[in-house]
Amino acid sequence: MNKTIYFIANWKMNGNHNSIKEIERVFIFFKKNVIYKFKKIIFCPPINLLSSFRAKIKSRLIDFGTQDISKININNGPYTGQLSGKMLKDTGANYVIIGHSEKRLIDEDFKTIKDKINVALKNKLKIIFCIGENLSQKNKGLSLKVLKKQILSSLDKNKINFNNLIIAYEPIWSIGTGVVPSNNYLYKIYGNLKKFLKEKYNVNSPVMLYGGSVTTYNVVTLREISLISGFLIGGASLKSASFIKIIKNYFK
Ligand code: 13P
Repeated sequence: MNKTIYFIANWKMNGNHNSIKEIERVFIFFKKNVIYKFKKIIFCPPINLLSSFRAKIKSRLIDFGTQDISKININNGPYTGQLSGKMLKDTGANYVIIGHSEKRLIDEDFKTIKDKINVALKNKLKIIFCIGENLSQKNKGLSLKVLKKQILSSLDKNKINFNNLIIAYEPIWSIGTGVVPSNNYLYKIYGNLKKFLKEKYNVNSPVMLYGGSVTTYNVVTLREISLISGFLIGGASLKSASFIKIIKNYFK
């Protein structure tokens, strides 16, 4: 089956105006190498760069997303520091990351995440919804319980359409550590999540990604898990060379 595989670059708090070069290189590579058909590439740079990057790269080969959205469900108003869903949509972004563990640590609780998802849906931004357990939860055997709670407490079954939502499983103990879960562990997690999503949301083929220390090397092992439809990549997405190589190795 030729399903779409996602490669999403989460630049976090990195990059400057020169970093457009990295995206341009990725763009040129895929323009020249049309064999890689069944992939979707999304860059999520910091918001200060997004509009200008989008203006320079207007191509269906590369899509853009933001790393955050205001939970306030209006387009404009007296909310210092907030960026509304409409403003983000106006930057040219089509996706938004919500529920990342790094944001959960700072200021995103379940209710905030739910509110942000509503704003994203209203503004026709597709959602990259992140879930993940920490090391102590994993060691206590609580991973699936934690993940299910994160899903149930933020995804309203009457509102969510899984055509507009991607689930990114990012074990916190794997982010930026170089440690990647074994395939056995991942089979168990994704298999259970798929069953759970069918039971609770009646979705047959949810798009589920993996994130956490993805590299040009381990992508070859991770691709064995067919329930994984792509990757949310941090560090290795900052340079075009490693980002392109991850994609090449996936399809090799
Ligand atoms: P790293 O790839 O740097 O581990 O980051 C993963 C991540 O948090 C992507 O959202």
